Amino acid sequence: MGFSHYELPKMLFIFLVFMNSCMFSYGGNFIQEFDFNWGGNKVKIFNGGQILSLSMDKLSGSGFQSKKDYLFGRIDMQLKLVTGNSAGTVTSYYLSSKGSTHDEIDFEFLGNVSGEPFILHTNVFSQGKGDKEQQFYLWFDPTKNFHTYSIIWKPQHIIFLVDNTPIRVFKNAESLGVPFPKNQPMKIYSSLWNADDWATRGGLVKTDWSKAPFTAYYRNFHAQKFNKSQFLDAKWQNQELDANGRRRLRWVQRNYMIYNYCTDYKRFPQGFPLECRKF
Ligand SMILES: *[C@@H]1O[C@H](CO)[C@@H](O)[C@H](O)[C@H]1NC(C)=O
Ligand SMILES: *[C@@H]1O[C@H](CO)[C@@H](O)[C@H](O)[C@H]1NC(C)=O
Repeated sequence: MGFSHYELPKMLFIFLVFMNSCMFSYGGNFIQEFDFNWGGNKVKIFNGGQILSLSMDKLSGSGFQSKKDYLFGRIDMQLKLVTGNSAGTVTSYYLSSKGSTHDEIDFEFLGNVSGEPFILHTNVFSQGKGDKEQQFYLWFDPTKNFHTYSIIWKPQHIIFLVDNTPIRVFKNAESLGVPFPKNQPMKIYSSLWNADDWATRGGLVKTDWSKAPFTAYYRNFHAQKFNKSQFLDAKWQNQELDANGRRRLRWVQRNYMIYNYCTDYKRFPQGFPLECRKF
């Protein structure tokens, strides 16, 4: 049975509307989800809110923040970092609450001269106290394509992931007396800014302003809030990483981790922070 001349365009129309709604339900719309609070027209929106870019020149960087607050959830974002000579630039992408006893979960991408590796810096703040840094090189060039950077935040742990590979698990160590972020809702923030006093080779390499503006791109933002019924589910509570996840985590930590505060003897001569113990 065939379709009449009238039905075909109609079906095509319905199909297109359907496709469109699928796309919107996947990649969050930047215009709907975020406020553009820093850098004015250095924040640019493309494809009706599907893609966003931040740029930085000598006058200022730029940034955005989520309209919504999150208290536990999974946040995914695809980023394509500053190409070429990005030395001195930092692209940060993090969750944070407000105030002097704020909580924070950080991804920071420290730029480098062309061809040299970015450093992915991670940290966790609880009750205003951070000092829990781990740093990594990436196993790909983060300026060539979009890659997915995710944070899973549960009452039991925080997991940092790159393209779904876990790179760091920060466990809740309240049983040892270490505060854990779990009472303050956080917003999602991102910014591109200049930190050439410390970012690249510890501040030795300065930003080459003749290469400005520097630009980073974002797409496919996705946020899932975890709900109460999930927290009551014992199976869900205990699930951390499966065998494959644990293997990937070990692979990253063995081959790409370049700094871990938990093994920095010089910094903690009196003994490592409590959460660094096996527990
Ligand atoms: C930049 O490249 C140098 C030399 O390869 C490396 O030591 C450094 O870790 C790289 N990354 C940053 C952010 O400094
Ligand atoms: C909680 O989230 C799970 C997984 O996303 C979902 O299947 C379930 O329906 C949600 N429950 C409520 C009460 O929203």
